[in-house]
Amino acid sequence: MTMVIREARAEELDETARILVAAFEEHRPPADSAVTPQQRVAFERYLEDIANVRSRRGAADLFVAVDADRLVGTGTLYPPRLAPTYPGPHAPPPWPSEWATLRLLGVPPAHRGRGIGRMLVEARIERARALGAPVVALHTSFEVSRSMYQRLGWQRASEYDYFPAAEILAEAYILALR
Ligand SMILES: CC(C)(COP(=O)(O)OP(=O)(O)OC[C@H]1O[C@@H](n2cnc3c(N)ncnc32)[C@H](O)[C@@H]1OP(=O)(O)O)[C@@H](O)C(=O)NCCC(=O)NCCS
Repeated sequence: MTMVIREARAEELDETARILVAAFEEHRPPADSAVTPQQRVAFERYLEDIANVRSRRGAADLFVAVDADRLVGTGTLYPPRLAPTYPGPHAPPPWPSEWATLRLLGVPPAHRGRGIGRMLVEARIERARALGAPVVALHTSFEVSRSMYQRLGWQRASEYDYFPAAEILAEAYILALR
């Protein structure tokens, strides 16, 4: 059976939320780490927000990777003129409204290293291109995805960086499609 990347069906939303949270759990601050209570609260708020996949229906396209009828990854695309909303008091500097935005790429640990993350990135880039976006953009705070995007040819766009919580830098990356 080959891997399929497509939009999630209504009956798949709960499972999509589950695999998204399972993927991002690795970023939970360890219990014995020296992060502040505010940072722990910010992470819980973030997980709660990302789990609410229904809140993004209508504004964003929710992609899933399906392998033999099992959901094994997910990624969200905001088409041009549909800007993401973020949890918490800090919002990033807005980018041009005609750009498309990638968010919330997640592959649960058991399915990693098989190219699923890359396929989910490429499928959303193709959709953004088909929708006429001149640029796709994203934020990330995580080293694994920073190096993946850099290898895929994305450029840093530090003028769009922001701090979603104290001491957490969300770096902006962009990819020109024209
Ligand atoms: C980032 C993530 C989606 C990658 O998923 P994946 O299916 O394992 O990724 P792929 O197998 O397609 O690999 C993509 C690239 O990342 C590299 N990569 C994957 N896991 C890696 C790791 N732990 N460390 C370093 N590089 C890694 C791969 O070598 C590959 O590079 P290449 O295409 O140049 O060979 C997955 O690790 C994840 O869900 N992480 C937690 C959530 C997260 O941080 N999401 C990104 C937020 S922006």
